[in-house]
Formats: sequence, C-alpha cells, structure tokens
Amino acid sequence: MNVAPDMPPRLEAHGIHVRHGPGCDRCLTGAGPEQGNRCAACGTVHAVRQVDVQAFDGEVLGIVGESGSGKSSLLRTLALEQAPSAGMYLIREDGPDDHQNRFDASDQAIRRLRNETIGLVRQHAHETLRMRLSATGNIAETMLAAGHRHVGRMRERAAGLLDDVSIARDRHLDAPATFSGGMQQRVQIARAIANNPPVLLLDEVTTGLDLSVQARVLDLIQRIQRERQMTVILVSHDLAVVRMLADRTLVMRHGQVIEHGLTDRILEDPHMPYTQELVQSLL
Ligand SMILES: Nc1ncnc2c1ncn2[C@@H]1O[C@H](COP(=O)(O)OP(=O)(O)OP(=O)(O)O)[C@@H](O)[C@H]1O
Ligand SMILES: [Mg+2]
Ligand SMILES: [Zn+2]
Repeated sequence: MNVAPDMPPRLEAHGIHVRHGPGCDRCLTGAGPEQGNRCAACGTVHAVRQVDVQAFDGEVLGIVGESGSGKSSLLRTLALEQAPSAGMYLIREDGPDDHQNRFDASDQAIRRLRNETIGLVRQHAHETLRMRLSATGNIAETMLAAGHRHVGRMRERAAGLLDDVSIARDRHLDAPATFSGGMQQRVQIARAIANNPPVLLLDEVTTGLDLSVQARVLDLIQRIQRERQMTVILVSHDLAVVRMLADRTLVMRHGQVIEHGLTDRILEDPHMPYTQELVQSLL
C-alpha cells in the first residue's frame, strides 16, 4: 500500500441504501428487514442497507460476501450505473463539484464521471465489450466518448494499452468474441483504464477463470494499480482473491457491512462468526 495519508479520500459514500420494491411501514423504518434482505411483510428486497464506503488514493479496498449479499448492487451504485434509494457520494476530482452529492448529478455529469473518473470491469465481459468490434475498436470507442478525436493517436494509445495487458500485437484487430475468457477480461481492463480514471471498480473480475489465468489477471491488476496509484475497489465472493490484493476489506452479508478492517487483521482475527467461517474456508 502506498496511501497518501494527508489527502482526503478519493471517494466517500454514506448511508447507501438500494431497495427493489416500494417498502412498507415495517421495513422502511430502521435498516430494513430483521432477517435476511427481504421484507417478510411486503416482499421488498433491500439489496444494500446503510452502507458507508471510503477509499483513498493508491488503496485497494476489497468487498467480500456470499452470493446475494449485495456486492454488485453496491458496486453498480458506486459506478453511478444505478441510483440508490438513499445515500450521499463524494468523489474528489479537485474540481468545483467535489462537495456535491454525485448521486444527484445531472445525466451529463454522470456520463462524464463514468467515462473519465470511474473505470468499471464487470464479471461478464460481454456486458461491457462489443464482442464483434476489434479489441482496438473497443478501446477507441471509450476514448471517443471522452472527447478524443485524433485517430492516429487513439490507435497508438489503444496499442499501448493492449500491450500493457499482454494482448499480442497480431490479435489487436481481432474481435473479443474470438478471445479466451482471460483475454477478454484483460481487454476489459485495458478499456476501463483507457481514459486514465483515478478509480477502478472490479466486479468478480476473475470468477470463472482457471486458477493460473486468475493469478495472471490479479498480477496485472496489481501492477496497473501500483503504476498509476489508482484507487481500486475489488468485489469478490472469494476471500482468496481479496487476500491477494486488498489493503482493507469490507465483509457484506444481507446487504449490510458486518465487518471491516485491514485485510490482514480480518484474516488473522475475524470478529464475526460469518467472517470466521469465510476465513476457515480458506484453510
Ligand atoms: N432488479 C432486481 N430486482 C429485485 N431484486 C434484485 C434485483 N437486483 C438484485 N436483486 C437482489 O439484490 C440482492 C443483492 O444482489 P447482488 O447481485 O448485489 O448480490 P451479489 O453479492 O453481487 O451476489 P453474487 O455474488 O451472486 O454476484 C439479491 O437478493 C438479489 O436477488
Ligand atoms: Mg455480484
Ligand atoms: Zn416491507
């Protein structure tokens, strides 16, 4: 970790709540259902409940939890892809909007943030990449969205980014549809960092890949994160993945953060029974 301690957080979110359904008198007071994330009275799912997140420059924050615990919902909210039902969100860009709640930003401002400030890598590459466009074309498209116009320079930069993620030169003009799963994730990463965003959000980036491929993708993320001193938020249901990269970790269950702290502390001395189970499953 190489966190700049005197800088304010790169991003800071408070009281994020993501609800699917209207809610009722029973679940709208307090933090939602008493058990699980679904209200027994009205059926509303409270996917994320009163979650706070803070991440600094140069820091990797891990988010772990079982399937359905709300990790993707939280990450989509932080990526400004999905509006929460409540919450406030500050992103530091050293600009005039630094003190504004980004959840209230205009569509245009959100588009800019998503193009230039927050890179997002999804679990399934086909949710992000255009599979029939070339790898180079996928990256150029992202640069166009951020206002780049010079074709030669975009092509050069796309080649450099694909080199960075170890896609061989003779495959740059091939379509991701013809790539392996690990290669597709690497193209997604190249695309996500094309406009030099200070923040990179990763959702189950190595889930479903062979262990050896998984290790290479995680190494790549670590190298890129260090070179660029990015703020990375890494979501995984697998504590082993988080252990490899994350300085700090949040443990989620039923939409809530039940434990947080330095990853080393959580691994050595988990406080909550659920976290203890997760750690034991690593042994
Ligand atoms: N559009 C939706 N409508 C209703 N419920 C939803 C919707 N999207 C998500 N949920 C519910 O929200 C909860 C959290 O889902 P989410 O995808 O965030 O979990 P996750 O931790 O990412 O799980 P996984 O590890 O399987 O990816 C789940 O109970 C899910 O069923
Ligand atoms: Mg998920
Ligand atoms: Zn309810």
